[in-house]
Amino acid sequence: MNANDFADRLTATATGTEALLERLLDGAALPGETARPGRLLDAMRHGALGGGKRLRPFLVVESAALFGVARAGALLAGCGLELLHCYSLVHDDLPAMDNDDLRRGHPTVHKKFDDATAILAGDALLTLAFEVMAREEVHADANVRIALVRELARASGIGGMAGGQMLDLAAEGRFDQKRTLAENEIVTLQAMKTGALIRFACDAGAILGKADAPARQSIARYGAAIGQAFQIADDLLDVEGDSATLGKATAKDAAAGKATLVSIHGAAGARAMLAQLIAEADTALAPFGDRADILRATARFTADRRS
Ligand code: IPE
Ligand code: IPE
Ligand code: MG
Ligand code: MG
Ligand code: MG
Repeated sequence: MNANDFADRLTATATGTEALLERLLDGAALPGETARPGRLLDAMRHGALGGGKRLRPFLVVESAALFGVARAGALLAGCGLELLHCYSLVHDDLPAMDNDDLRRGHPTVHKKFDDATAILAGDALLTLAFEVMAREEVHADANVRIALVRELARASGIGGMAGGQMLDLAAEGRFDQKRTLAENEIVTLQAMKTGALIRFACDAGAILGKADAPARQSIARYGAAIGQAFQIADDLLDVEGDSATLGKATAKDAAAGKATLVSIHGAAGARAMLAQLIAEADTALAPFGDRADILRATARFTADRRS
């Protein structure tokens, strides 16, 4: 798998994701809905359309492909996950959280609209995510859909992303006196705030493909490794990246006193950790042979990306 093939496949999934999200964020009320207020819909569209790498849907689709799952249902599940990720970004950027003005090269939702609208847009993206995950087009077997909904809830709630965001803010010393986190505490925090959704993306493919327990464990191990790599790369980009390329502000973590592995080990140390995590991802994929080459390329991408 060369770099161009990888980039083409990532772009194809991003294009498919955008088209599906556009349909899901249509103005027409669904059966069971009463009306879709225009301002809220505009804010949701601003938060979800027209940007982002769409890495999580890509992971769902490529992990599912490893287990022979048809693309359409996997892409719809990936869109459910992407809606949830977009909600997490809208809330992460709020003044009460990271207070950011720029996201994906555009004003953040609360900047373009207002705080209350951004909170509600996040809420509505989150609930739409679960509605999408429960759709029959995701998978004909209702047990598969229940497993996806349950695992997404666990990955995004108190024991996953939301819990990790809590630990992240606490580590800045917002609630109690600031104390220096030990490395294992930072690893846990990051595994929750970022790793959980990335790991779920990989697991979702295995769930859709009704993978056996050893295969599912291998994929989860891969997902955990690239999830950790993904946040280390994000923290490195905050120090070394270019705001225009990233589409978001840089140099914010040190200013906020955020606990990161870059702050403990420095940039060179963090890069050494990334190399180790890519090796760990490769090892996890060994049972799948060269059929998993696209996932190997994805591991390298999570570590080497510039945006
Ligand atoms: C940013 O995620 C938030 C983190 C978990 C670090 P991404 O870097 O995947 O953001 P988009 O979706 O491509 O904008
Ligand atoms: C956010 O981590 C993780 C989320 C759950 C959204 P960051 O706060 O580092 O993400 P960016 O740098 O704002 O994208
Ligand atoms: Mg944050
Ligand atoms: Mg942030
Ligand atoms: Mg960051």
